Amino acid sequence: MLVDTFSVAGKADTTDYKTSKFVYNNTEVEMKDGHAVVTPTRKELEIRISQHAPKTGLMLVGFGGSNGSTLLGGLLANQHNISWERKDGVCNPNFFGSMIESSTVRLGTTHAGEDVYAPFRSLVPFVDPKNPDQFMLGGWDINNDNMYAAMQKAAVLDVTLQHKLRPYMENITPMPSVFDINFVAANQEDRANNVITAEYAKEMLGEEVDTTGRRWYVEVIKAQMRKFKEENNLEKIVVLWTANTECFAPIIEGVNTTEAELLASLKDAEKSKHIAPSSLFAIAAIEEKVTFINGSPQNTLVPGVIEYAVRNRSMIGGDDFKSGQTKMKSVLTDFLVSSGIKPTCIASYNHLGNNDGLNLSSPAQFRSKEITKANVVDDIVASNDILYKRPGEIEKPDHCIVIKYLKYVGDSKRAMDEYTSEIFMRGKNTIVLHNTCEDSLLAAPIIMDMALCGEMLGRLQIREPNGEWENFHPVMNTISFFCKAPRVPDQTPIINALPAQRACLENILRCVAGLPIETNMRLENRVM
Ligand code: NAI
Repeated sequence: MLVDTFSVAGKADTTDYKTSKFVYNNTEVEMKDGHAVVTPTRKELEIRISQHAPKTGLMLVGFGGSNGSTLLGGLLANQHNISWERKDGVCNPNFFGSMIESSTVRLGTTHAGEDVYAPFRSLVPFVDPKNPDQFMLGGWDINNDNMYAAMQKAAVLDVTLQHKLRPYMENITPMPSVFDINFVAANQEDRANNVITAEYAKEMLGEEVDTTGRRWYVEVIKAQMRKFKEENNLEKIVVLWTANTECFAPIIEGVNTTEAELLASLKDAEKSKHIAPSSLFAIAAIEEKVTFINGSPQNTLVPGVIEYAVRNRSMIGGDDFKSGQTKMKSVLTDFLVSSGIKPTCIASYNHLGNNDGLNLSSPAQFRSKEITKANVVDDIVASNDILYKRPGEIEKPDHCIVIKYLKYVGDSKRAMDEYTSEIFMRGKNTIVLHNTCEDSLLAAPIIMDMALCGEMLGRLQIREPNGEWENFHPVMNTISFFCKAPRVPDQTPIINALPAQRACLENILRCVAGLPIETNMRLENRVM
């Protein structure tokens, strides 16, 4: 049974905050001569979130791409309740694929033995994407197509819907952006007709600019963010990179390994060439105290950027949307290893024909993707030395990732995976998957979720009883569920398994709502 909203007996929230006390049960482990001593710990904590969901603008870098135009079209269709016809009938808009908008949490069981569920979004006051007065999109693209033309080129949404969306989208044009062909594939150069120039910078900043280095780009991006916020009466903005995958930026001592190096490099003609456009957006967001999320695989969040964000207490997150093949991998590998089965060989092939695929056909950009896709099984494998222990060496499954550009299939990406595992008595088990799906229809709701979560996490605070309220860590590993290669604070293990990532986010929000964490013990059904 589904209910829209719920209240927790005996809990009264103020109009300003939703606040709850909870006990955090955990363990501390100490290794003594190869033996683990586990000490259960118990901490009383208070958690709260402000009740006011601010009017939020999500600014996408790469707004005119397949993801950006698909999300804008889908969002507007939902906000204006636009239905459209197809040969299989009339379609109504939805947010399927959004964990926040379309998944549920279990509240408990009635006396009659029926489980009761509520929408995930009912746990805390999220910004409501269906309400145009609360959530809107904007952003940058190096291509000047209006958003209707961009949606047509992306060829993802049904044409009948595109026609209905035309009046809403053809007057929206992305803002000019920073472009450096050295970071993306050579085949992207033709798209770049909407880039920030010295003349545009003068117009935005109201004075001549010194174009040595790349600091001036950061200043222009900050001015663009402020203008967008002001013109749309927004209380908050979130910036998210969904532009082309860049190659990895080299991490060079003296250039970008610390905040001080990074800020100095920005003004240096030579050193600043190593600072990727995506990092410039991250720096601008940090300086404006705006949440920044990287949805592509490259290392936008170089050490200097992370140090800058942490010191400024400005929220950052990423990397790379976990939408299809990798999402499945982080479920399937977790299922196999947690069942005591040993994956020994994972082969993952993809082909796609959209502009993302064209960009990834260049080796340096493919390498960024290969890295984020490859690391996803590491922690799952490391969790089970019964399966993988081999004296003197670390054993991992053989794992390869191939991506090919085949124009004909467009956005309808094919992912083919073969998982071979060792089972009982050295038997072998091979599972083969074939996944066909429009890539951007998977990514768009995830982009929205990342933005809604990123905004919400900025309002979440925790404290020990009567202590000072503290914000969550600026490196938002709480959004790992959405990321192929989750960014985590220093000295923090990376969790890739999808069920664990979801349980983390759900349980934190259950605590805010005043619900117990979901243990799945259900003793009431198991004990006489
Ligand atoms: P796309 O190629 O259709 O869109 C990218 C857009 O970025 C283009 O419109 C391009 O003109 C623009 N762009 C390039 N450099 C720019 C810059 N410096 N500033 C502003 N705009 C710039 O690609 P798509 O399919 O929308 O994917 C976007 C990103 O999301 C890619 O990096 C992709 O790897 C990543 N991604 C996509 C997933 C999916 O399922 N669609 C999953 C995981 C990651």
